[in-house]
Amino acid sequence: MASNRIVSRGIDKIEWSDDLLLNMKAEDDDHREMFALMNGIFSAALLGADMVTQAVADLCLFTREHFSQEQHEMEQVAYPDRDSHRYDHEYLIFQLDVLIERLMNSGPDYVADELVDLLKRWLCDHILTFDAAFAAFRQEMMQEE
Ligand SMILES: [Fe+2]
Ligand SMILES: [Fe+2]
Repeated sequence: MASNRIVSRGIDKIEWSDDLLLNMKAEDDDHREMFALMNGIFSAALLGADMVTQAVADLCLFTREHFSQEQHEMEQVAYPDRDSHRYDHEYLIFQLDVLIERLMNSGPDYVADELVDLLKRWLCDHILTFDAAFAAFRQEMMQEE
């Protein structure tokens, strides 16, 4: 039934692309998992509201853990751009919180295609800019060691 669907206008699952690889294994594995969890929201949309809520909660939990690990690493090496990188993380967490709140209050109908689309664009942009810059910094440090 339409009320259980969040993807109403044919947004496809997002395919992982190797263009997003940063050649840092743990980081890349986490990013792949985040894509899988985001796609899990699409799959859950076919199964009903409870499944959507669970899928979004899974994505939130994993994302928070990934971000705090990355922030910890930035602190450890005194990465100069760590503040702006952390703010971008906080922005995504804010968007995820909004998504959860809308799910809780209104059900999956109100999780608009646009919001899911925004999240996946955010993730690609973040990886290709902030995470890529931090990866380059770490790779440079390793070469100097
Ligand atoms: Fe990041
Ligand atoms: Fe990351």
